Amino acid sequence: MSIHIGAKPGDIAEVVLMPGDPLRAKFIADNYLEDVVQYNNVRGMLGYTGTYKGHKISVQGSGMGIPSIGIYAHELITEFNVRKLIRVGSCGSMQPHIKPRDLVFAMSASTDSSFNQNRFGGKDYSPAASFSLIKKANEEAEKKGITPFNGNILSSDAFYGDDQDEWKKWAKYGVLAVEMETTALYTIAAQFNAQALTILTVSDSLVTGEELSSEDRQNTFTDMMEIALETAIS
Ligand code: HPA
Repeated sequence: MSIHIGAKPGDIAEVVLMPGDPLRAKFIADNYLEDVVQYNNVRGMLGYTGTYKGHKISVQGSGMGIPSIGIYAHELITEFNVRKLIRVGSCGSMQPHIKPRDLVFAMSASTDSSFNQNRFGGKDYSPAASFSLIKKANEEAEKKGITPFNGNILSSDAFYGDDQDEWKKWAKYGVLAVEMETTALYTIAAQFNAQALTILTVSDSLVTGEELSSEDRQNTFTDMMEIALETAIS
């Protein structure tokens, strides 16, 4: 096992879906995968491996924030030979035309974190999605009649900031939405030549203050999951 994942080599598939919430990982395993084995419960950060349409696939909770997903992404790639990591999460829209329930695919992830500045000696690395994964995800969305928004997102270090208008600067520069993990996921995937993609459901709007009900969250989550699973096995 690695420090934070109690699995043996071979227990985890080459492709891993990563919801933030470990109970979402359980939900995905229970509802979409067959022949499921739970391989991790360290810190309650549940991880499962099963099959989807005959393909071996794993689902691993990432926790919230850059440090947490950074740990799991690093260990999945370096200790368990994971090659494709697909985050499935939620985000807050920063653009008036992007509404709760919409899907956002992160082409790139800006950040207010020092994660990459520390790594690159104060310089700015641009974490970017795998082109083949984002292309495939768009094709899968199209098959479902869904038009996702592709673009730059913000991975923020603070869910509860101080300056309530801070997001507006990012919005002015075309950033679509805010979440808290992708900059680390893309950077670590790049470090080890793995592929990564983040697919997000808009759960709230910073523009209007609107929020999804829990029922709506469940329905949009289904679309996102199916797109992620089809992309994962491609
Ligand atoms: N901020 C950060 N992360 C989020 C948000 C938000 O408003 N909504 C969903 N994830």
